Amino acid sequence: MTAATGPTARRLGEAPDPGTLDPAERMGVDELRALQLERLRWTLRHAYDNVPHYRRSFDAAGVHPDDCRDLADLARFPTTGKADLRENYPFGMFAVPREQVRRVHASSGTTGKPTVVGYTERDIDTWATAMARSIRAAGGRPGDVLHNAYGYGLFTGGLGAHYGAEKLGCTVVPVSGGMTPRQVQLIQDFGPRLIMVTPSYMLTVIDEFEKQGIDPRSSSLEIGIFGAEPWTEQMRQEMEQRLDIEAIDIYGLSEVMGPGVAQECVETKDGLHVWEDLFYPEVIDPFTGEPLPEGEEGELVFTSLTKEAMPVIRYRTRDLTRLRPGTARPAMRRMDKVTGRTDDMIILRGVNLFPTQIEEVVLRTPGLSPHFRLVLSTRGRMDHLTVEVEARPDCPAERRPPAAAEVATQVKDTVGTSVEVVVVEPESLPRSVGKLQRLSDQRSR
Ligand code: DLL
Repeated sequence: MTAATGPTARRLGEAPDPGTLDPAERMGVDELRALQLERLRWTLRHAYDNVPHYRRSFDAAGVHPDDCRDLADLARFPTTGKADLRENYPFGMFAVPREQVRRVHASSGTTGKPTVVGYTERDIDTWATAMARSIRAAGGRPGDVLHNAYGYGLFTGGLGAHYGAEKLGCTVVPVSGGMTPRQVQLIQDFGPRLIMVTPSYMLTVIDEFEKQGIDPRSSSLEIGIFGAEPWTEQMRQEMEQRLDIEAIDIYGLSEVMGPGVAQECVETKDGLHVWEDLFYPEVIDPFTGEPLPEGEEGELVFTSLTKEAMPVIRYRTRDLTRLRPGTARPAMRRMDKVTGRTDDMIILRGVNLFPTQIEEVVLRTPGLSPHFRLVLSTRGRMDHLTVEVEARPDCPAERRPPAAAEVATQVKDTVGTSVEVVVVEPESLPRSVGKLQRLSDQRSR
């Protein structure tokens, strides 16, 4: 679901002055498509000539960069997956000599080796441009103080946001994640207008304000730019109400660049515009690999259009969404909020379930906080899912059993499967300072 029809009156921030937009943001569709084709042809050639993996995979599929005469021809080229990056660990996917790579990032992954990505000096500048554009689309302006609580390090969130904010002309506070009481103190002392952080950690910081007896709504923050993990419209309302901010979605992934691949615009809040002059999106059927028409849900696939150090051709993100026509940036397509990854899907007794579906139900239930965890276990020979959810601090004890029963009923009605719901004490579940892992899989193998 996109945000356009939210149940509460939504605040909508101001569009940037059109004069401040990047030229690509103002392009018409024909001009943008022509630019994409030119860049796509360059990218295919660059990948084929310089990355043995791509040469092999194109040859095996019987395609050559010269076969791409039209954007639709891209569908003839093979897709790339995380496994390809792992097999070429660490630097085998680079298309330039290592000496030209100015920076690497890596995503840890839960199993096996991390996936490594690299950037030339120009790639870093392109990324900063995309991020600056994203922050501006979210309502940020030159001169704003920006509190950056995305993690700095191998994760792309911290440095990606940092360079973009500097490029836009913000004053960056590079806090990184963690040390939650200090986060509150710095917000109080430095008066930032913007915060960039994962939505799950934002909640922890909001809780900390309240613990210190400070009304979070009284803070200087006006805009939060939240991403790196799925979050729902219900979570948007929760954060907007408790912090009195505009909560805006940012999407990206390290293999394609980092944060700033797609961005929600504050004046419409209706899904995320893909920065299509830099990243070409497709949605495919995750089972057959066939491209799907605009509007149909499937797996998001990206081809980079300008990247030098590590071009990616039809990279399968495993994120599920659909593409829609542009609004605030008319030529650039939007993607719906990503509500699930194929990886995060829980198949419970034959029914598919995403943690975001539980989030929606929990946040609609009076007395329950947004802090919940999913525990998958084995009962007899069956999988069993327990939803552990914290009561809000002001939730009376007698409200807990009915709240648990309401969640169980709602999940049964909307998802179609039975789960056990346990309401636990406030502050009893683990918190994360970055991406939150909601699922604990304790099934016996
Ligand atoms: O999470 C980059 C990022 C940093 C994006 C900060 C936004 C803000 P990775 O660690 O490679 O990169 O993880 C990428 O995170 O494939 C999605 O599954 C998920 N993800 C990222 N943004 C969103 C979002 C960064 N807005 C993976 N909504 C992606 C839902 C998101 N999921």
